[in-house]
Amino acid sequence: MSAPPDLPDVVLRAFDVCRRAGYVSFCRNETGRLLATLAATRNGVMAEFGTGCGVGTAWLRSGVRDDEARILTAERDPKLARAATEIFTEDPLVDVLTADWSTLRDKGPYSLLFLDSEQPSEVGVDAIADLVETGGIVVLDDFWPCEQWPPLDGNRVDTLREQWLTDERFTAVEVMVASDSSVVLATRR
Ligand SMILES: C[S@@+](CC[C@H](N)C(=O)[O-])C[C@H]1O[C@@H](n2cnc3c(N)ncnc32)[C@H](O)[C@@H]1O
Repeated sequence: MSAPPDLPDVVLRAFDVCRRAGYVSFCRNETGRLLATLAATRNGVMAEFGTGCGVGTAWLRSGVRDDEARILTAERDPKLARAATEIFTEDPLVDVLTADWSTLRDKGPYSLLFLDSEQPSEVGVDAIADLVETGGIVVLDDFWPCEQWPPLDGNRVDTLREQWLTDERFTAVEVMVASDSSVVLATRR
């Protein structure tokens, strides 16, 4: 996808932290740019399930327009959470929680929810729907683009993607961010 090569400062700081921690499991820049673009449409509280070393959080932060928005992100691995905290120590708009994402259940509803915890069984629509405000957006990362229905993951029906794309509580779409990667965007009705 076309994109200018320059990255926001906060994202560069996150990459520095990742390099020092030897961490590579972060969202790709294409997804990051989408997160920033969506964050720029939001007020209120956004959340991320699975901080890693803070790259996705940094992309979200880069899109925030004003002091009206906040970002909560939860990472259950204390080393990773500590590393991500470094990026945002002086940022009152971002809280990195060293915790299972279930901690975030009590802190919503969210205007945007980035689900990136690598635990598909925990991010089904029923578990998530009530955490999102009306008009709130859910972003699910890391799908292999699929042009058929039902969507496949390898040789099996991808029931998570199928569920998100058909649930009546959301208007949803799968969007390719690169030739080998897609995300699902779902807006709460
Ligand atoms: C793909 S990485 C996150 C990458 C990050 N969102 C980014 O874009 O840079 C997934 C992270 O989710 C964390 N994780 C998995 N299950 C979790 C849970 N139940 N609660 C909190 N974090 C979880 C893992 O430890 C891992 O660091």
